[in-house]
Amino acid sequence: MILQTISMKSVTAEGMGTLSVFEAERDVPFAIKRIYYIYGAPEGVQRGGHAHKALRQVLWCPYGSILIRLDDGTEKSEVLLNDPAKGLIVEHYMWREMIWQQKDSVLCVAADSYYDADDYIRDYDAFLAAVAHPGQN
Ligand code: TYD
Repeated sequence: MILQTISMKSVTAEGMGTLSVFEAERDVPFAIKRIYYIYGAPEGVQRGGHAHKALRQVLWCPYGSILIRLDDGTEKSEVLLNDPAKGLIVEHYMWREMIWQQKDSVLCVAADSYYDADDYIRDYDAFLAAVAHPGQN
């Protein structure tokens, strides 16, 4: 599996912190229609446990440390998001789990489509069947 991470442009102002930025259709390979974020989770929490049929996303963690586990149905891989300037592109048909390594870590997601509950695959066996037989779902 080829992991697609992005290293955001970051501008540090001496003694005043850092600004990080990425641009849709330039630094991430799609236009962005929706942004959501998850916060207030205790350490050890695991979220996700689903894949998407079409949705493409970029994930980043502006505060804290979150382990992202990805599975394309053949290979599994992990990325630790513990740097506010690091982003991870998650393409469609990618099973994902997100595990909070640190209380109050924030997970931000920018997605290429509006929310659509029908785009989710929440059953792992259905996910494996979908990647094994593309076009039949
Ligand atoms: P979900 O995608 O299952 O989050 P996670 O995988 O992190 O647990 O979403 C959690 C809930 O939020 C679920 O009830 C659907 C709802 N939701 C929306 O209403 N709009 C959205 O854009 C998203 C991402 C989720």
